[in-house]
Amino acid sequence: MPSVADAHLGGRPRTEHPVIAMRDVVKRYRMGDTDVHALRGISLEIDRGDFVAIMGTSGSGKSTLMNIVGCLDVPTRGHYWLDGVDVRTLEDDDLARIRNRKIGFVFQSFNLLPRMSAAANVELPLTYAGVHPKQRRARAVQALRSVGLGERTHHVPSEMSGGQQQRAAVARAIVTNPALILADEPTGNLDTESSIDVMSVFASLHAQGRTVVLITHEDDIAAYAQRIVKLRDGRIIDDHRRDASGAHSTHVAHAEADHGVFR
Ligand SMILES: Nc1ncnc2c1ncn2[C@@H]1O[C@H](COP(=O)(O)OP(=O)(O)OP(=O)(O)O)[C@@H](O)[C@H]1O
Ligand SMILES: [Mg+2]
Repeated sequence: MPSVADAHLGGRPRTEHPVIAMRDVVKRYRMGDTDVHALRGISLEIDRGDFVAIMGTSGSGKSTLMNIVGCLDVPTRGHYWLDGVDVRTLEDDDLARIRNRKIGFVFQSFNLLPRMSAAANVELPLTYAGVHPKQRRARAVQALRSVGLGERTHHVPSEMSGGQQQRAAVARAIVTNPALILADEPTGNLDTESSIDVMSVFASLHAQGRTVVLITHEDDIAAYAQRIVKLRDGRIIDDHRRDASGAHSTHVAHAEADHGVFR
């Protein structure tokens, strides 16, 4: 009997539901005697193929939200459906498998293993996915080429610039061919030129039809996205979609507007 995740991973793409759907998601952290309310009721839908920037001041809950989206953490309350599947129904093994196959993560601090070459770093998710060793290197090199690092496959991280390291991290995120790319301040440690290089990689991933969700503090980085969601104090305070010209934007309607989420 196939598990929910098997049916989910093996089935045809179901286009009728959003790739991400959250309802009234609350996240609290217990710190000694006090509760930290990181998310205070997030309801959010993201369609397949969208490019969304999440913005907000430090401590507003952006990384907490991203970690839940990426199944690295679970809500204290509320519901989260990833590709139509309620993640609460999944066992840990299924969650790990979904993370590995469907989601690519990019972090602010590139998180590359320092003693391994770019190609070996990029191969790692394929090892976890059980891809045959003979295929791994070829796929890693292909991913590195796709981010413009075809000449750097043998370099270790200390032999690469920050922008190159982040592009290697993007290659590692996409080598499993995930439909969903999540990035938490991917340009936070980069200079302007490297930021533009990395953002053009995200733009081309989006152009290939992948869903991209990234956190940023910078307006010019958010400008690459089609939709900007703003958080404050664990709540969504603004949600705009830009038209193709970028000149105009429209509010994204939320079912929860009557809960006083938008004020
Ligand atoms: N593991 C944790 N344990 C306790 N509190 C946490 C934990 N992770 C986050 N928090 C708290 O939850 C709130 C939201 O944190 P979060 O990391 O989501 O913010 P953020 O918007 O990503 O901020 P930044 O822009 O600084 O990265 C903060 O008050 C933070 O201190
Ligand atoms: Mg953060």
